[in-house]
Amino acid sequence: MEYQNCWVELSKSALYHNIATFRQQLSPNQRLLCVVKSNAYGHGLVPVAKEAVEAGANWLAVFNVEEGVLLGNAGIQVPILVLGPSYGTQLALASTHQLRITLASIDGIEAYLDNVTARDVPVHLKLETGTHRQGFMPDELKTAAQLLQRHRIPVEGAYSHYADIEDTTDHTFAAGQREKFERAIDTLVSLGVNVAIPHTACTAAAILFPNTYFQMVRVGIGTYGLWPSKETNVSAQTLGRPEIALKPVMNWKTRIAQIKTVPVGEFVGYGRTFRATRPTRIGILPVGYADGYRRAFSNTANTLVHGMRARVVGRVCMNLTMIDVTDIPDAKVGDVVTLLGTDGDEAVTAEALAACAGTINYEIVTCVAPYASRKWV
Ligand SMILES: Cc1ncc(COP(=O)(O)O)c(C=O)c1O
Repeated sequence: MEYQNCWVELSKSALYHNIATFRQQLSPNQRLLCVVKSNAYGHGLVPVAKEAVEAGANWLAVFNVEEGVLLGNAGIQVPILVLGPSYGTQLALASTHQLRITLASIDGIEAYLDNVTARDVPVHLKLETGTHRQGFMPDELKTAAQLLQRHRIPVEGAYSHYADIEDTTDHTFAAGQREKFERAIDTLVSLGVNVAIPHTACTAAAILFPNTYFQMVRVGIGTYGLWPSKETNVSAQTLGRPEIALKPVMNWKTRIAQIKTVPVGEFVGYGRTFRATRPTRIGILPVGYADGYRRAFSNTANTLVHGMRARVVGRVCMNLTMIDVTDIPDAKVGDVVTLLGTDGDEAVTAEALAACAGTINYEIVTCVAPYASRKWV
């Protein structure tokens, strides 16, 4: 049964445009991997993955084996890299479904050996260069190489992830990470581990630094038409990088469920945080923080109705949100409301919503109700 209270419209032309934009930056032998983990950053795993491949993605990345299996079952043919850790039965499942898993620790190699018998699907190694998340420390490489060779584990790629490349306009730390990555690759090669596909670039690196591309770039947020940060935009201009115009893919919509007029002096919502200073027509929307429409949007975020801004009034509830439609007199029950995206000349951007919530555009789109339908427009 289709969930009706809100839905997501995806712009196919925007997705194709964004993927073509990143493809153009690469040489023909460099691979473009689109990161579709976490329900394709909230956009819808399978629909986005299928179109991304059509649009030119050579590889896809998910976070866990379950997401990879969903893609395999959907008939996706390009190589799929699992970025996160894999455990126990996930490892065997990954092997059955031809998923490239990430090995990031000696324990991880041992778990792989315990669970994977047919060692024919190549793996990627995650190398620690300064983010201190997943990854082999430099002093673990020798043991890792010995295990990989002794047990004939086929290594195809090795990668790392930048700690602050999108957070700053000073990229000294990222440059240091890149150097550490190159040193780790040299060490692996000297230990007899051939790495055909080294890769480090996320969206910010893909926009800013061609020397981070190596054999593949892993573009997440840019696929969806969003910039990683303002700092990335400023850096791109300072560095004289070719201008790119990313196009947001997601429009998140709902409908007005009820309209009522609140008399002057009356309150709206939990905590009575909004009090009407004029007769206020409010539209009641069947979405709330349980759907990813954050409570932090209370009394601050805008929605769009008939191409005009309608502000949230009162607190966003778990399942309901109230908006002020006093200045949109023809707004009526059943009208479409844009929670995120464009309507006419107006836009509610993921960045504007992120600012209301003190977070980043990544979190806004990723948290959009996974059960809401995703439709291409
Ligand atoms: C290992 C790895 N590579 C690539 C990406 C994509 O990053 P971005 O969305 O900034 O392009 C992520 C995102 O979290 C990641 O964890």
